[in-house]
Amino acid sequence: MNAFIPEYLNKRLLFVTGKGGVGKTTVALALGIRAAMEGKRTIVCEVASTENASRLFSQAEVGFREVEMANDLWAMSIDPDEAMREYVLLQLKVKAMRDLLFRSRMFTYLAAATPGLNELVTIGKIWELAQLDRKVKHGRKYDLVIVDAPATGHGISFLQTPRTFASIARVGPVHTQSQQMAEMITDHEQTGTVIVSLPEEMPVNETLRLETELTEDIGIATDHVIMNALYPETFSAVEVKRIGKLEKSDDPELRAAARAGASLATRAGAQHEQLDRLRQMVKTEVSTLPFIFKPELDLKSARQLAEEIA
Ligand SMILES: Nc1ncnc2c1ncn2[C@@H]1O[C@H](COP(=O)(O)OP(=O)(O)OP(=O)(O)O)[C@@H](O)[C@H]1O
Ligand SMILES: [Mg+2]
Repeated sequence: MNAFIPEYLNKRLLFVTGKGGVGKTTVALALGIRAAMEGKRTIVCEVASTENASRLFSQAEVGFREVEMANDLWAMSIDPDEAMREYVLLQLKVKAMRDLLFRSRMFTYLAAATPGLNELVTIGKIWELAQLDRKVKHGRKYDLVIVDAPATGHGISFLQTPRTFASIARVGPVHTQSQQMAEMITDHEQTGTVIVSLPEEMPVNETLRLETELTEDIGIATDHVIMNALYPETFSAVEVKRIGKLEKSDDPELRAAARAGASLATRAGAQHEQLDRLRQMVKTEVSTLPFIFKPELDLKSARQLAEEIA
């Protein structure tokens, strides 16, 4: 346990969830940087095909291998085909059998014919990364595995996959392993979720829905909600009034500046209303991350956000 970081970073497995484009990849990375800064051996994994995490680190592409990004921080992109290959290699002891399977393109057919198989092997790999007793040779032990989860819509069914497979396969290794994964996902001591939201009406509604689905349908803990990209409340009520007067000024430049200021104040005001709404609606604790005024976020911005994590 580390008392200097939010409690949820003391878990072993953390899924960063939310609607498309709310900042999941950015927040997952910021959380990873923060945990690593506090001395936690952390890996941030991406499961979709987009490699935003690695772009933010402005390093070589992170592929299906554990790449060291900074002190105590690793990253990996989980490709389901690679995860399947690794799984089979770990399971099958007879080399001739493995070669035959790979050559026959059987997996491609199997994955196409079995909905959810790609998700299952992806979660299987995440589960493997989170084991203290790693299955892969010379596997590193991590304190924390952070998953940049696929955008919801897909997100919920993604987390449900192990349970689905555990009930379809009644016996055998697929049953046992899916069961183990489902147990870990729903173990509130070990596993949790952070929901990322934006200060707008629709994302706030979505967050409420997601919180309910995660807790009721999946049985996973929701540890925290992060309202991302919040504008600062720059002006006081008195200042807003003064700005209003300046908007009627004879000086065109002053009028333009006042209009810009007024627009910022309106936007920030609307965002803080959504923040209040979110806080009233969800059961989970909410914190905020500021909007970073930059055309494109880089590693420095991710570090800046990491420092802001309450
Ligand atoms: N706090 C912030 N301030 C400013 N820009 C931000 C902030 N957080 C994220 N962004 C920007 O918003 C965009 C979306 O962020 P990001 O890629 O992290 O979202 P995502 O939820 O992972 O998206 P997707 O669902 O497509 O994977 C990016 O361009 C990112 O740089
Ligand atoms: Mg993303």
